[in-house]
Amino acid sequence: MRRHSELTELMDDPDCDVNLLKRTYHLFPYVNRLFSQWSTIYRLEIKPHLQDRNHLYTLLDVGSGLMDNSFFVQKLATNDGFKLKITGIDPNPMVSRLIEEKSLSSLAEFKSCYLHDLDEAKKFDFIISNHLLHHLQPSEVKSILAEIQSRTKIKAIMNDIHRSRIAWCAFGVIMSPFRFGSFIQRDGLTSIKKSYTSDEMLALATEDWRIRKLFPYRYSLIYDNH
Ligand SMILES: C[S@@+](CC[C@H](N)C(=O)[O-])C[C@H]1O[C@@H](n2cnc3c(N)ncnc32)[C@H](O)[C@@H]1O
Repeated sequence: MRRHSELTELMDDPDCDVNLLKRTYHLFPYVNRLFSQWSTIYRLEIKPHLQDRNHLYTLLDVGSGLMDNSFFVQKLATNDGFKLKITGIDPNPMVSRLIEEKSLSSLAEFKSCYLHDLDEAKKFDFIISNHLLHHLQPSEVKSILAEIQSRTKIKAIMNDIHRSRIAWCAFGVIMSPFRFGSFIQRDGLTSIKKSYTSDEMLALATEDWRIRKLFPYRYSLIYDNH
């Protein structure tokens, strides 16, 4: 299957239906717990770097949506006795409206912005993203990876789906009950067609980045700041 870079997700249309967009963001956490593998990523890529129980570690979630992945990683770290402050950033105005409805603890914050809007000096122990890379064109991928690299103190993990006809068919069937009432099924299918294979992503990244393949039809693009 070729990469359909010309497609756009319905949720990225500024004039899209607000109620459908809202429901889509509320459904992302369920999709993420089913498919995104943050439990495995935490165990293999984050936990080994958490060593000091008195240190306040920091994590930035780029394109965070409602921050469910960073809350999940924070919960796992807390269960292991570590302190992790999470920051989510997302430019979609709907996200800030929905996050305002939550009460965030002192160990969580959200900013409605792009990465380049953050103070230049701001760095984080960990930077993560989930389902962000396929929204970006190759030139945008290159520039966001460079910026993430410069702001990462320990490790960056960009987690995403990769293109596959089987994944496209399976996702369409599994998510067919959600065909109406949100963008989750239609955008998911578009995302699979737009997404990068791990080889395509490695070709865009510098040699400082590596790939960890994950099931089902996923990979994490990882930068270690040695
Ligand atoms: C498919 S959603 C994923 C949301 C969340 N990470 C999750 O896994 O549920 C992609 C998110 O990336 C955001 N986004 C798109 N382009 C972005 C960019 N250049 N920088 C930061 N976020 C971006 C969108 O607003 C959207 O909320």
